[in-house]
Amino acid sequence: MKAVLNIAHRGASGYCPENTMAAFERCIELGATAIETDVQMTADGRLVLIHDESLQRTTGLPKLVKDVTGDELWELDAGSWFSPAFKGERVPTLEDLFELVKSRSLQVNLELKNGVVQYPGIEEAVIEATRRFGMSDRVILSSFNHYSLAHCKRLAPEIRTGILYMEGLYEPWEYAARFGASALHAYHYAVIPEWVSQAAARGMAYHPFTVNEPAEMRRLIQAGVAGIITDYPDRLAELLKTMED
Ligand code: G3P
Ligand code: MG
Repeated sequence: MKAVLNIAHRGASGYCPENTMAAFERCIELGATAIETDVQMTADGRLVLIHDESLQRTTGLPKLVKDVTGDELWELDAGSWFSPAFKGERVPTLEDLFELVKSRSLQVNLELKNGVVQYPGIEEAVIEATRRFGMSDRVILSSFNHYSLAHCKRLAPEIRTGILYMEGLYEPWEYAARFGASALHAYHYAVIPEWVSQAAARGMAYHPFTVNEPAEMRRLIQAGVAGIITDYPDRLAELLKTMED
């Protein structure tokens, strides 16, 4: 069986506060071979890893990421909402994550959150950081904003891109190839085996999200997906071990 990428969704977000260094470190311990995280930009242009455009849910501050500076953001507690055990975890920067993974063999899936809020220049900034850390061959850029991915590909043909979508995209392998993407990050219920084969025949990798049940992981692995995005990388690692035996 071909190696399946074990992509930890916002780190080990089943066990730790999502998109924190605790979640990233834990997912490595649990067997992840890649980390998915969400990238946004502060008012002073810092690239930070957080899912929501608002800081309310994970830090309690009723402001948008785009309206605070990095220094204001570092003051916030992004761990307590999940559990008091994580009090003091802060919103990490993209550079924090690159520092963690650069000496390891992990891949990184950077989801650009530039749909609801627009972050002019985020593509340039993410590509600059990726190149500065020598991560170009280990990063996959993804987004629901496909104009943004097309822009990334023009700026950095050497960095892979993957299109995020929910359902019903007709022949997504043809569509994605039009702007140089090489992966399909599809909502997992919308993935059927026949499409996985058709995509693979055109060199297009499926990385469905967010798959937490082992039975669904098994279905997708048997269909031939190249990777799975999960909150529980330990479950996927365990399953992959049994399927290799
Ligand atoms: O990249 C897969 C997944 O993270 C996309 O949705 O909302 O969890 O960022 P979301
Ligand atoms: Mg995401």
